[in-house]
Order: sequence, then C-alpha cells, then structure tokens
Amino acid sequence: MEQTLSIIKPDAVAKGVIGKIMDRFESNGLRIAAAKKMQLSEADAQAFYAVHAERPFFKDLVEFMISGPVVAMVLEGEGAMAKNRDLMGATNPQEAEPGTIRADFADSIDANAVHGSDSVENAKNEIKFFFSDREIV
Ligand code: CMP
Repeated sequence: MEQTLSIIKPDAVAKGVIGKIMDRFESNGLRIAAAKKMQLSEADAQAFYAVHAERPFFKDLVEFMISGPVVAMVLEGEGAMAKNRDLMGATNPQEAEPGTIRADFADSIDANAVHGSDSVENAKNEIKFFFSDREIV
C-alpha cells in the first residue's frame, strides 16, 4: 500500500489542531501508520529541506520549522501521496481550495500548517528521515 510523509508544522501544533488535522486523514481513507511529536534541531530542518537550500525562503523556513514541536506521520492508503496533497490544498493558504487543511488552519506560506511529500519517491526518503521500520505499523 502506498505511503507518504506528513508533518503537522509548529503553527498548527501551537493552535491545538493536531487532532483535527489527523481526523482529516482518517476520515478520508488515509491510515496513520506512524506518528511522533518532536522538536527538530536546526540541523534536522536544514537536512530535511536540503532540496530548498538555495531558495531565498530557506532560512525563514528552517527557523519556522524549529520554532516549536512538529508531528511527523506516515500516512498509508491507495494513492496516499496525491490524496494527502489534495487534502492539504495549495502551498500558499490564500490559494488553497475551501475545505482543505491549509485553507482552514494555515496563516501564511511559511506557517502553512502541514507538509506533505510531493512524489512517491521523495516520500520514501522523507519517511526514512523520520522513522525506522519498526515504528511503521
Ligand atoms: P512545504 O510543503 O513544507 O515545503 C517547503 C516549504 O517552504 C513550503 O511548504 C512553504 O511552507 C515554504 N515556502 C516559503 N516560501 C515558499 C515559496 N515561495 N514557494 C514554495 N514554498 C515556500
């Protein structure tokens, strides 16, 4: 079964909407196969987002991602990667469709509530970044 990585970002954790966001996944056919709340270090965030290292928003992105705890999850289901992206909505919450997680819970393109893998290949690497095999059940 296809798997993808989701991160509930510090803004959504601080707002107390972890449960509401998890409910979006579980109510839409995505099983939570792994989950953990954690505080990322600066090195963690830089490594996770290394693909964006040359982008002008990289420093702000890393600072934001270490501003408070996050919840990392493995979501599993048919077409899990694309389904998660549909549920999240556009990266910029101002462009996100009504009823999506970002439209409902995000404030800005940086504080955009959730991250989701953007390909099945990237999902495999992002899942390995956060979870060992025995944590995915
Ligand atoms: P995410 O899916 O976690 O992947 C990279 C993050 O960078 C993205 O969500 C946004 O929160 C953040 N970001 C900030 N500015 C931009 C931008 N101009 N384009 C894409 N992502 C951006």
